[in-house]
Amino acid sequence: MARKNIAAGNWKMNTTVSEGVDLYNSLAEHNVPSDVTVIVGAPFIHLTSLIAAKKDNIKVAAQNCHYENSGAYTGETSPSMLADLGVDYVILGHSERREYFNEGNALLAKKLNAALANGLPVIFCCGESLDIRKAGTQNEYVTKQLEEGLFHLDVSQLQDVVIAYEPIWAIGTGETASPEQAQDMHAHIRSILVDKYGSNAAEEMSILYGGSVKPTNAKEIFGQKDVDGGLVGGASLKADMFKEIIDSF
Ligand code: 13P
Repeated sequence: MARKNIAAGNWKMNTTVSEGVDLYNSLAEHNVPSDVTVIVGAPFIHLTSLIAAKKDNIKVAAQNCHYENSGAYTGETSPSMLADLGVDYVILGHSERREYFNEGNALLAKKLNAALANGLPVIFCCGESLDIRKAGTQNEYVTKQLEEGLFHLDVSQLQDVVIAYEPIWAIGTGETASPEQAQDMHAHIRSILVDKYGSNAAEEMSILYGGSVKPTNAKEIFGQKDVDGGLVGGASLKADMFKEIIDSF
């Protein structure tokens, strides 16, 4: 897909189904600018109801999927189930999945392949911890995440991927990466995409920033040259705040 402005919400494990549908309906009333793609990432149990309520202006994402389409994997949800339901995207590799559910780059590469094989576009997350940031090795760390998780794809597959850079130290902490820190990392990611896939593919990649994006900082962050939008946690749970973020491009 060509490079887009994207405001993606990640509800994480928040809202009941009815609260989620209310939130979705409130967002769907918004006059979304024609050059902005809006996505909400909801818990699995919400997805059927959200797809039933779905309007063109707000796309729906799952927050995870398995790498097999079916089988004896109690408690899991497959990419073919999501695709069949009409889900638009799946978020993979969020730092919370990496940290609390032991998802490593090799596993994520399998999930990514499975999602794409089902025609399900992926928001693929990367980002370093505070320790790595303090050591100054964040570029190397993110490079390795992408090399091991993403760079086995060929250039045509890459068209169905959005990258989300989410520094772990800025998630839910109220501490945002400065616009310069975000831009530096996004430029780094785009440069390794140029090396691997060429400048056309790199220019077409949407790279989102995540970590304490709020209505008060969205405009400055989204205004950076290589930042194409945000993956928003807490502020996506309040319709008014998320609408302001949607209007921040
Ligand atoms: P916050 O916006 O709450 O910091 O969360 C960011 C995030 O993890 C989105 O995936």
